[in-house]
Amino acid sequence: MYPKKDKKAEEARRIMQQAIENHTADLAPVIDGRKVILETTDVIRQYNQYDEVVTAVNRANLRVFMGEFVAIVGASGSGKSTLLHLCAGLDRPQAGSIVVRGHRLEDMDEDALAKFRGSYLGMIFQSHHLIPHLTALENILVPTLMCSRSEISYDQHLKVLVASLDLADRLHHLPSELSGGQQQRVAIARALINRPQILFADEPTGNLDKANAEDVLQLLLDTRAELGCALVMVTHDLSIAARADRVFKMEAGRLRLWNNRLDGILPGYEGGEE
Ligand SMILES: Nc1ncnc2c1ncn2[C@@H]1O[C@H](COP(=O)(O)OP(=O)(O)O)[C@@H](O)[C@H]1O
Ligand SMILES: [Mg+2]
Repeated sequence: MYPKKDKKAEEARRIMQQAIENHTADLAPVIDGRKVILETTDVIRQYNQYDEVVTAVNRANLRVFMGEFVAIVGASGSGKSTLLHLCAGLDRPQAGSIVVRGHRLEDMDEDALAKFRGSYLGMIFQSHHLIPHLTALENILVPTLMCSRSEISYDQHLKVLVASLDLADRLHHLPSELSGGQQQRVAIARALINRPQILFADEPTGNLDKANAEDVLQLLLDTRAELGCALVMVTHDLSIAARADRVFKMEAGRLRLWNNRLDGILPGYEGGEE
């Protein structure tokens, strides 16, 4: 009896070890009963511009819980996009650590990181970044080429996405044949196709009129509710930020908590200048 049990435990350990090596195990720490899906510690990203060094992100510390809506506001050039790209594993910091679902991104080589990103992270870029020679449908499916998750029923998921984003009659068109709003909806579908655990969105409503901006925001909030994922959004729109659980402000690469709805803290929040 005991050897059998040991064998089972041994097998479970082996599977867990394999999952850790493949970065598939969910190792997210739990703090106060809430799962920490993303944690950055003292992250620094600098760029060389001519003979100057620009510190785009300066010791950023950010902890995001599963299911949370975090907004990041700040003036243009303050480092918001850089931070988002770092958290999404699209760029590497010079210093500091970024941990997603308990895995340190710096421990992954480029292949592992690309796979991890495709499996668990969704990114909506400021300027869509659709591949011009692929149709809308092909663009949406790009992440699944890199990694498809066995627990997702893609046919069904795609149908729901296409319907909710109103893209059914645009699927076989190239990005150049789509309006700006349609291109953005394709980019959103691409970000959601692998049912991410964190959805990053870089000013997703920046180029939209008020009605369309509200639709996109509602869609992202509905997605968060359905997937239970975290939503980390850069926005200039304070009325959108006001709906987030927490708002961070970026100032010359420095990130600070600006508003925490759960704790009712409003440090200088009303009267903000964005
Ligand atoms: N690829 C890059 N090369 C050099 N400098 C960059 C690059 N990307 C961003 N920067 C600089 O980093 C700073 C932050 O930029 P960014 O993160 O795009 O700000 P934001 O999104 O808040 O407008 C700016 O000074 C910008 O010029
Ligand atoms: Mg930006």
